[in-house]
Amino acid sequence: MPDRNRRLVLAERPTAMVDERTVRLEEADLPELGDGEALAKVRYLSIDPTIRTWMDDAPGYLPPIAIGEVVRAGGVAEVLSSNNDQYATGDLLFGLTGWQEYVIADSAQRTMQKLPPGVSATAALGILGLNGTTAYFGLLDVGALKEGDVVVVSGAAGATGSAAGQIAKLKGAAKVIGIAGGPEKCAWIVDELGFDAAIDYKHDNVPARLRELCPQGIDLYFDNVGGEILNACLANLAMRGRIVLCGAISSYNESERSGPSNYGALIIRRGRMEGFIILDYFDRLPAAQLELAGWLGEGKIKSAEHIVQGLEHAPEALNLLFTGGNTGKVLVRV
Ligand SMILES: NC(=O)c1ccc[n+]([C@@H]2O[C@H](COP(=O)([O-])OP(=O)(O)OC[C@H]3O[C@@H](n4cnc5c(N)ncnc54)[C@H](OP(=O)(O)O)[C@@H]3O)[C@@H](O)[C@H]2O)c1
Repeated sequence: MPDRNRRLVLAERPTAMVDERTVRLEEADLPELGDGEALAKVRYLSIDPTIRTWMDDAPGYLPPIAIGEVVRAGGVAEVLSSNNDQYATGDLLFGLTGWQEYVIADSAQRTMQKLPPGVSATAALGILGLNGTTAYFGLLDVGALKEGDVVVVSGAAGATGSAAGQIAKLKGAAKVIGIAGGPEKCAWIVDELGFDAAIDYKHDNVPARLRELCPQGIDLYFDNVGGEILNACLANLAMRGRIVLCGAISSYNESERSGPSNYGALIIRRGRMEGFIILDYFDRLPAAQLELAGWLGEGKIKSAEHIVQGLEHAPEALNLLFTGGNTGKVLVRV
């Protein structure tokens, strides 16, 4: 059995992208396994923009990662040895593994759960896990998607946005427009995923394209990015339009964050803008996962994965989310 663990710890709080100064690779002894504990080898890490927000010393929905602490992250790990009846050698577990090679799982703490049969490790972290369910509840619950809605999704070629656009189509949206960076991503969401149209925010005039594509306004905007794109969608909101605040990735590397100047559109158009965190839907996840798995099995929904090899490359993998170097879900194979 291994007795040493390689892990990435937060060395300094980043002010922009993470680098070797902010995240340090170190080796440590693995403790002896206690009663009820299992030792598991991390196989995949889920790379999520929220990890960057946890690195700031700012109030959030979870406490900030402490200096010297292993970087918090979701992942899938395989049990190597176990003192717990609920975990057998070879079981795949998912939960908060952190950026490290080995994790100690303890069923009493409920941080690591067994992967359901038939679900792959990578799907469990993406389309059937955090991203698919976030898209599902964000659209259907927070956004109260209705048949015939005109829907706009930003970050549309990413893990959450690509799922959101496809779910909106499956649930009867009249038109789904994706906003993404660059012609390749725009072509992918239209040609492969079935979005009705795409706006390349890096080259197009976003407000003008929104007016052209949504002449009656936007009924539901699923916001992954915040900033100028949120502002442009607010300006083009339909009467009683809804804005789902899923994320604001354009601001996660900024020290100063400002709100949208066009918020007055909510008053004039009797609109609603609401944020949510997927953790609030914990009890309802299985129902969403079942429906998503059905669509996936029938080929009605597609997902892409961008896999980075090696624990030591986790910081670069995180940065990909901010440079737009990914299409679909970013994972690290450890
Ligand atoms: N509320 C929740 O519970 C919850 C759960 C999961 C995720 N989220 C949020 O959902 C969003 C997407 O997360 P994800 O994991 O699916 O990541 P992702 O979309 O796979 O990757 C992030 C994408 O954001 C785009 N982006 C980066 N900087 C941008 C900017 N300044 N302006 C516009 N687009 C930018 C990039 O695509 P381009 O090439 O198109 O720029 C990049 O590929 C994030 O805001 C995240 O925090 C929220």
